[in-house]
Amino acid sequence: MRLEGKVAIVTGGARGNGRGIAEGFAREGALLALADVNAQGAEETAREIAQRCGVDALAVQCDVAQSESVDRMVAAVLKRFGRVDILVNNAGILPQAPFLEMTPGFWTTVMRVNLDGAFFCSLAVAAEMVKTGGGSIINVESMAATQAPPNSVAYCVSKGGLHMLTRSMAVDLAPHNIRVNGIAPAIILTDQTRHIFENDPAGLERNLNRVPMGRVGHPEDLAGAAIFLASDEAAYITGASLPVDGGYLAR
Ligand SMILES: NC(=O)c1ccc[n+]([C@@H]2O[C@H](COP(=O)([O-])OP(=O)(O)OC[C@H]3O[C@@H](n4cnc5c(N)ncnc54)[C@H](O)[C@@H]3O)[C@@H](O)[C@H]2O)c1
Repeated sequence: MRLEGKVAIVTGGARGNGRGIAEGFAREGALLALADVNAQGAEETAREIAQRCGVDALAVQCDVAQSESVDRMVAAVLKRFGRVDILVNNAGILPQAPFLEMTPGFWTTVMRVNLDGAFFCSLAVAAEMVKTGGGSIINVESMAATQAPPNSVAYCVSKGGLHMLTRSMAVDLAPHNIRVNGIAPAIILTDQTRHIFENDPAGLERNLNRVPMGRVGHPEDLAGAAIFLASDEAAYITGASLPVDGGYLAR
């Protein structure tokens, strides 16, 4: 098992991509902390993963957009497991709005969760990783860091910022043996995107036409990339962003 005994925090781990990554980690022997604003969802998911994979899985309620909440979450993880080896900054929101209908509050909310959240979690966790000799941070970015689908200005900018957060943290944290990498999915069918595609089947069709592999992705499609980047197999990889998108960005 490639992550045996390693302690991993997955933000937004209650469902969707976070859950897919967390399940993959558990199958590789990691001890899990699912940090999610949805406490009940995190509890249920942690229980199910623990039963299925036979690992210790902790659920912690956390709003990544609030630095105090993040600090409390990291303290709870340290109390339970004593260290953190892997952080996956996955919690994210994707509210859509045409540019002219956006408000300052809309913009701020997206930035707070998608970008500030990753920064707050990384800041709190990296300080602990320094004490234990290193670790791996993985940011769940998006093809929207470099492409601009319509009605997604705030989302695209937040993911563009997250992409640069990956690279600049990688540079600053390399001397501490902390690797920072990104995963860039395109169209993954989750609760968040299912809702969008149900309201816009033509949009789904248009998007699918851009995926050379001809299918949507599923949360478990992200797990392999995350396991690899978290594991010692990626010991010399930092500052990279790996598309997991069926070829979307290649087109
Ligand atoms: N689904 C896709 O097609 C796709 C594509 C590219 C990138 N992504 C990224 O993947 C990540 C997960 O997306 P998803 O599709 O699984 O979404 P989702 O809505 O299905 O799951 C997101 C999880 O994050 C949690 N969350 C939301 N706000 C939070 C907060 N402030 N603090 C803590 N937890 C919070 C939710 O409760 C939920 O459990 C996001 O960062 C998203 O931008 C998704």
